[in-house]
Parts: sequence; structure tokens; C-alpha cells
Amino acid sequence: MAASGVSAAKGGLGSTLRRDSWWVEILPVIVVLGGFGLYATLRAIEGKFYEWGPYLSPFYSPLIDANHRWWKWSPAILILGGPLSFRATCYYYRKAYYRAFFLDPPSCAVGEPKRSYSGETKFPFILQNLHRYALYLAIIFLAFLWKDAFHAFFFNGKFGMGVGTLVLLVNVCLLSIYTLSCHSLRHLAGGKLDCFSCATFGKPRFAAWRGLTFLNERHMLFAWVSLFSVGFADFYVRLVSSGAIQDVRIF
Ligand code: FES
Repeated sequence: MAASGVSAAKGGLGSTLRRDSWWVEILPVIVVLGGFGLYATLRAIEGKFYEWGPYLSPFYSPLIDANHRWWKWSPAILILGGPLSFRATCYYYRKAYYRAFFLDPPSCAVGEPKRSYSGETKFPFILQNLHRYALYLAIIFLAFLWKDAFHAFFFNGKFGMGVGTLVLLVNVCLLSIYTLSCHSLRHLAGGKLDCFSCATFGKPRFAAWRGLTFLNERHMLFAWVSLFSVGFADFYVRLVSSGAIQDVRIF
């Protein structure tokens, strides 16, 4: 139901009784999410400029078979499925891209294309229900990214810090907050419980649930800022690795 309290006018795609500029909401999603998808795809298949010194692009982490012993294509392709499945099945992104790319519906109380509707009960959209498992996978990937951020503090075995270190560190922090704000994680912590005091470990679960709820209420924000940060972290490593810019050492 639209915030304006009107329902979709009977009719086809785009028909509505709304008088506001409802389409403004989907334009940034088309541009930013579409642009990110394009950039990430090109970078994943590029297969070079993904590391420099102690820095490793998050698009290539964990780095597998970088010397092409048994995999002749870009190593990013081997690991792409993990982060991609997490983002693609995210409850927030689902809403965003169903509206922006499938126009299904384009916005609240706005007519959608006429077609039979099966929701997420049939292939391929039934796979969206695997989001909880994608979360488990994302946590494993996060562990590798934390390891990369830690590694980014060591230049030829000596402790130090460059701009790239900060870029990778901020990125993994934002990705961690995005993951912690996940609806599935909140559900696991306690969202599915009717009574905390009756449950095993009820008190710590209640505390965890409250903390995760605080983050979950801002999930959309973390979804976007972490998308920017992961794209920027890769872009920065690419610039330094290709020689387009020089990394600045802070100490
Ligand atoms: S709901 Fe968005 S990451 Fe889980």
C-alpha cells in the first residue's frame, strides 16, 4: 500500500492514482545497482590488477589459483558466487531490483506488467529462500576479508599503514555491519522466538536480538554504503596495481 494511501488504478504498467513522482525512487537503483553490476562483472573477468603489495581486491578474495595451474580464467570467477548470492537474495535488494528492473510492481500502488504471478514459489525465484545459507557463506567470506585487512598493515614484513590499508579496513567494517544487519541473522538470534525468558540462553539472545534489530532497522543504508565501499576498495586496488596512482604511506 502506498504511503499516499491510494491503490493502483486498474490498468496496465504504470497506471496509478498517485500524484507524486513515484518513479524518482527507482531511477537511482537502476543507475547505481546497474552500474555496479556492470563494473563488478567487467572487473571479475578482467583477471588482473587485483593486488599490490599487501593489498588484495575484495572482488578476488580469497585468491584461488592465481598462477593458473588448473583454472585458466580470472580467479574472481571462482568465488563470485559467494558474495553475489548474498546480495542477490538479500531482502532489501530483492525489493529494490524487483521494482527497478522487473517493474513488478514499479512502486507501491502502481500498476505492474500483466503476467501471471507466482511470487517466489517457482524456479528461479524460489532460490531466494536460500538467503540464510548465503548468509553463512558470506560470514566465511568476511573472515577472509578481515584477514586481508590485517595483512594490509604489513609492508615487506614491517608494520605500517597506507591509504589502501584504510580503504580495505573501512570496507570490511562496512561489509560486517551490512552482514550483521541481515534479516536472517536477526531471525536466527531471536526473531523467531515468542518468549525469550522461556528459551535457552534467553538473556544473551535478547541482548543480541536488540543489537541486531538496531542495525536491521538501517539495513537499506548499510546495503548501499557497503556496496559503494566494496566497489571503491576494488577500484582503489586497481588504480594502484595498474600504476595509475601511487599509494600514499601514512607511516
Ligand atoms: S536481508 Fe539483506 S543481507 Fe540478509
